[in-house]
Amino acid sequence: MKIISLIGARPQFIKEAVLHKEFEKNGIKEILVHSGQHYDKNMSDIFFQTLNIKSPDYYLNIGSGNHGEMTGKIMIEFEKIVIKEKPDIVLVYGDTNTTLAGAIVASKLKIPVAHVEAGIRQKPKDMPEEINRVLTDRIANYLFCPSKLAVENLKKENITDGVYFVGDIMYDLYKIMEKQFKYEIFEKLKLKENEYILMTMHRDFNVDKKEKLEKILNQIEKISKEKTIVFPIHPRTQKRIKEFKLEKYLEKVIKLEPIDYLNLMGLVKKSWKIITDSGGLQKEVYFAQKQAIIVMPDTGWRGLIKLKWNKLANEKNLYNKTFDKNEIKYPENIYGDGNAGIKIVEILKRMI
Ligand code: UD1
Repeated sequence: MKIISLIGARPQFIKEAVLHKEFEKNGIKEILVHSGQHYDKNMSDIFFQTLNIKSPDYYLNIGSGNHGEMTGKIMIEFEKIVIKEKPDIVLVYGDTNTTLAGAIVASKLKIPVAHVEAGIRQKPKDMPEEINRVLTDRIANYLFCPSKLAVENLKKENITDGVYFVGDIMYDLYKIMEKQFKYEIFEKLKLKENEYILMTMHRDFNVDKKEKLEKILNQIEKISKEKTIVFPIHPRTQKRIKEFKLEKYLEKVIKLEPIDYLNLMGLVKKSWKIITDSGGLQKEVYFAQKQAIIVMPDTGWRGLIKLKWNKLANEKNLYNKTFDKNEIKYPENIYGDGNAGIKIVEILKRMI
């Protein structure tokens, strides 16, 4: 059996790392293609190093651009590889432009598409990631769902064939790596356990418009007067803060470059709370038994909101939501048993 995995952005490197080990154990040949959507050293290389991911067999080097341009460039280059390699299956992950590009190419070449992290739905309907998810799920042949809610979401859209609840592959990784989490940054910054907030922010709807970003940072400034905030800044956000001249709001905030998975998880484990608009981090925070304040109108990971563990916030109520005293008991795992990788490989082996 020959599989092509197409990855390109930070969260996909992490997901592939788990499956790669399973493929190896099962003697399955996996060809790794990196689209180059994320290309900065600390957005890409560092993940390959710290998670011991094999070097890509192909690097498409597409870089940044408008959505159509990016997706189109990936499709042009990826199609050549799929034609040459003739895989039995193409694997795509999550919700990025790389995901959609891979799914379209494979599907039109009549190669079965497997979507890891299928069935996630989130408003607004027109956010780029939602468009990528919905379209990928429409054409995928195997839909590997991280939660039962994701299976339900697909059912509502009449997608039931090839749908499997396998659990969340990021929980697999969390369990595998937990003992190796690093506390170098935590120590270097002399942070105090349970006394600081870790923050990440990169969504287009939060950072691309000055007025919205300014309001969010205004709330952050208010919070930073009461709690230490550590903020590894995504390049998109970094650019906007500079362009809109909003640095003044972050005077009290500890600003960092984006950091690798092991150190980020070390920071999560020792934190008090997390403020984020990242999809993946919302769950990782929960695996670490910490709570996230999510700066989004909605989240693909609604299960944790329904359970009142994580909270949605906006540019007006971020401060209040962060200091909200509503204590709740840790809800048991809703994202499987940490064996998603094993299950996915078993299913693929049976099918091909
Ligand atoms: C992408 C995904 C998002 C995911 C995120 C993880 C899409 C539509 N979105 O968002 O779902 O949560 O990755 O990080 O695919 N840039 C650099 N260096 C890099 C990468 C990006 O400078 O290595 C800058 C560029 O200016 C680029 C911008 O960041 O235009 C946005 O990058 P892009 O890959 O389009 O989307 P993300 O915001 O990273």
